Amino acid sequence: MRTIDHAGTYTLGDRQVRRLGYGAMQLAGPGVFGPPRDRDAALAVLREAVASGVDHIDTSDFYGPHVTNQLIHEALSPYSDDLVIVTKVGATRGADASWNPAQEPAQLRAAVHDNLRNLGLERLDVVNFRIHPGHLGRGDHSIADSFEAMAEMQTEGLIHHLGISNATPTQVAEARAIAPIVCVQNEYNLAHRDDDALIDELAADGIAFVPFFPLGGFSPLQSASLSTVAERIGATPMQVALAWLLRRSPNILLIPGTSSVSHLRENLQVADIELPNEAMRALDAIH
Ligand SMILES: NC(=O)c1ccc[n+]([C@@H]2O[C@H](COP(=O)([O-])OP(=O)(O)OC[C@H]3O[C@@H](n4cnc5c(N)ncnc54)[C@H](OP(=O)(O)O)[C@@H]3O)[C@@H](O)[C@H]2O)c1
Repeated sequence: MRTIDHAGTYTLGDRQVRRLGYGAMQLAGPGVFGPPRDRDAALAVLREAVASGVDHIDTSDFYGPHVTNQLIHEALSPYSDDLVIVTKVGATRGADASWNPAQEPAQLRAAVHDNLRNLGLERLDVVNFRIHPGHLGRGDHSIADSFEAMAEMQTEGLIHHLGISNATPTQVAEARAIAPIVCVQNEYNLAHRDDDALIDELAADGIAFVPFFPLGGFSPLQSASLSTVAERIGATPMQVALAWLLRRSPNILLIPGTSSVSHLRENLQVADIELPNEAMRALDAIH
């Protein structure tokens, strides 16, 4: 049987991780708030992911809040040496489930300590500074104060590697001038391709690009071309969307999110899918 190894690996800091990883956001309750509907099912998804060879899990303490980190801790600790847990800081949740910016140095430090405690770690493998989206979406404001605080925590040994999320190319460059980054996590999928040039630039420098909403997030991707390609090659549209990302660039690491073991299995089977050139052309035309 083929395995997820067939999708290959890519460098994430000082580690090589498999390109098929897992995003834990869907494990929290509805609206990424509160406990999961089915706690045992959530723990089972995490255990199955790691048992299937996933060695890269994306999370944050603001999922729940605290919920996904505590589930990861319960399901997977003591952690295998191979597992890279990537978390992110930069927001807090209100009692009404709102997402609030927490970008000040003291707030970032508190968030790093929350992540350490809830994941049960002494040092975080990779932490993304997630730039809080403004009401107009991404912007080019300076992130220097926040990212300098992240670099300070790296120097102190609380964080091994740094990354950045929701960042424009200008902000990525500003962060890199402060401290090395190992990954950028931005929205990107078949239908949302603002970062095409950025992905290629990062690939040239050996930096991972980790698309969030690889399947479209809260509105899963739908397209006639996607369905046609899927039918032709005997895969599901979601599998084709992931296979396209794997072929798009070698520095793309996937973290599709799911709360279901059957969807997890389906997503990991993408390692077995080879998209013919003609399918790539049809999919490239979607955006
Ligand atoms: N940096 C940021 O600002 C940011 C923002 C959003 C997300 N993220 C990260 O990115 C990860 C991935 O994003 P995401 O989970 O929001 O979106 P996604 O991976 O694009 O899509 C998740 C949605 O697709 C469904 N799904 C998953 N596999 C499926 C399959 N094989 N067939 C049909 N439906 C399927 C899931 O439902 P089921 O649960 O029913 O499978 C869920 O509704 C998150 O887990 C999180 O770690 C980061």
